[in-house]
Amino acid sequence: MSARSLLFPHFAKILHGGDYNPDQWLHAPEVIDEDFRLMPLAGCNTFSVGIFSWTSYERQEGVFTFDWLDDIMDRMAKAGNRVVLATPSGAKPAWMAKKYPEIRRVNASGVREPQWHRQNHCWASRVYREKVAIINTRLAERYASHPALAMWHVSNELGNDDLFGQCYCPLCLAEWQRWLERRYGSLENLNRAWWASFWSHEFTAWDEIDPRDWSMDGLSVDWMRFRNWQIKDWYEFEAATLRPITPAIPITTNFMGLLPYINYAELARSVDVIADDQYPAYDLDDPEMVDSAVKISFKDDVYRCFKPDRPWMLMESCPDAPQWKPIMRPKPAEVHQLEMLQALGHGAEGTCYFQWRKGLGSREKLHGAVVDHSGREDSRVFRSVVSLAEKYEKLTPILGSTITAEVGLVYDWEARWGLENSEGAAGRNWDYESVAYANYRPFWEQGVAVDIFASEAEFSPYKLLILPQLWMLKPGVATRLRAFVEGGGVLVSTGYLGICNESNLCFPGGWPGDGLMDLFGIWNEEYDTLPDKRPVPLAVEAGHPLAKQAAMLAGKEVCASLHANGAEVVARYVDGRFQGAPAITVKRHGRGEACYVGSRLDLESLRVLARDFTRRLELTKPFPAEIPVGVAVQQRIDDTQRFVFLENFTPHPQVVDLGGVTASDMISGETRMGLLTLSPAQSTVLAIPR
Ligand code: GLA
Ligand code: ZN
Repeated sequence: MSARSLLFPHFAKILHGGDYNPDQWLHAPEVIDEDFRLMPLAGCNTFSVGIFSWTSYERQEGVFTFDWLDDIMDRMAKAGNRVVLATPSGAKPAWMAKKYPEIRRVNASGVREPQWHRQNHCWASRVYREKVAIINTRLAERYASHPALAMWHVSNELGNDDLFGQCYCPLCLAEWQRWLERRYGSLENLNRAWWASFWSHEFTAWDEIDPRDWSMDGLSVDWMRFRNWQIKDWYEFEAATLRPITPAIPITTNFMGLLPYINYAELARSVDVIADDQYPAYDLDDPEMVDSAVKISFKDDVYRCFKPDRPWMLMESCPDAPQWKPIMRPKPAEVHQLEMLQALGHGAEGTCYFQWRKGLGSREKLHGAVVDHSGREDSRVFRSVVSLAEKYEKLTPILGSTITAEVGLVYDWEARWGLENSEGAAGRNWDYESVAYANYRPFWEQGVAVDIFASEAEFSPYKLLILPQLWMLKPGVATRLRAFVEGGGVLVSTGYLGICNESNLCFPGGWPGDGLMDLFGIWNEEYDTLPDKRPVPLAVEAGHPLAKQAAMLAGKEVCASLHANGAEVVARYVDGRFQGAPAITVKRHGRGEACYVGSRLDLESLRVLARDFTRRLELTKPFPAEIPVGVAVQQRIDDTQRFVFLENFTPHPQVVDLGGVTASDMISGETRMGLLTLSPAQSTVLAIPR
């Protein structure tokens, strides 16, 4: 059923609002009065409250007061707003840090941090857990039946700080060793899994295992896993303080995009609602703007697929410039709308801001906000927010509509950790992500929807499955890939497939390992990591159907040498170390195919392959004609209509050919057919009957 938000029951609105910190203004009640006058004018309806408010509730150990929050919650309810109420664990009070030093984190040099900054408590401290449990229980009991309470916001950006959530205190090290004991059962197993005889690193007692030994890359990957376990365990601990008291209230925490250090695919299983903090700072003067848009769409698709049956939301974004960017440019209203509609196009049903009002002091006083220091409602940014809110009113019919995809792409945090912790393969730090983006982009350009997920996901719903650098094969993945292809699916892999197992140990017997040599009909013998970005020419085999579309393709950066053992050769290296060797192969299994692309293809070549798959597999596109490069198109559907989101990420007007359909522009109200011109940075949504 459509037109009903699945985020908050009985709330038929796109969520729009932001982080609200009235606790910074208790000395100026007239400012808070003014906030409540401005909120409806801005078209804002949802506010995250109390994220860093611990000292305002418990200034002295065990002495609590919630007066200001009582007042704010009541005013929110009266205004018809929804509150996302935070637990305050993201910032610990100074008195607590002084009295209980164990709650302060220890850095890699073994030095306990002073009381400073935020999001830097020890994950294992019993004392901190006790204190957090007490304050959370108080909040939950006090507001359990408050009409404004719509969702819980656990802590803030778990693991986001200089050490990325790492604490090396004795409590955490003991917890790590216990985690290893559970994972491996015996030191013998652990020593074997980590290849510990290398440099005589075999362990004879659990307490010898120090996570800072980065010479063992199996250990490094496990340390990443362990820290993620700690963060998830922390989240679950906090959620458990709230859930029994407010069983009907969803619980979430704000994620940080594709942060490499946190396996959000794992954490996503524990939260009720997927919420992200997003700050792309699109700039029409930036020649890389389309690349930035591709990255955000990719991330949005990852987020959409964490819980495909529920909408997700931007918990934080910015109506203007965040102060922590190296350059801060005012965000034009059309760019603001572009960014927000992009999220909605990818399945979000709420876009909130950091922050509602700028504080007068401290680190974030110059961070963009709905209300700036002038306090004026005729400021440029305030008007931009109002204008977006007016459009959100018109877009409410999209609530409850969904997205389906025929293409799947595997993005796996653990595979990334394996690759990046393997000296000799991890040449450039961001390779895992950039290769994933590159393989996604040609489908994005055509408006073909792509689901993105980790390697544990179910592959069978897809016609086409893309594996960008699935370096690490977890147990069972190779078998499921075979079943996918034998069931008629088309599988495409880049190089760096199946190099290591889940302990980051290389598969013996040739790559891709774990039986995939047979599935692809190849042996990938070697890799050549090139010293520069010069194109590597690849000649398409004369008799291959692809030759009709392109006689030559081009690779770059990394090349794999392949031997075809049962696979058909699609293209060969023209020169270089692997001259004459197969570069792209395909092995057919009935209707299924396993295609291996041994060199990192350039964008033009990836487009050739993507168009070929789109045509052969008859992948669904919103419009039959080609979409101009830089225009993003996403499609949500409900029982009666499809909603097509169009976003022009270029500084030029772009013409989109709607084909034979008659559409109604939900924003302008006009009827559209034939050619539709989008002005620079323009975004809109078309409703088209199904
Ligand atoms: C993060 C945090 C917020 C704030 C913003 C600033 O998203 O969660 O508290 O610091 O960054 O951009
Ligand atoms: Zn610790």
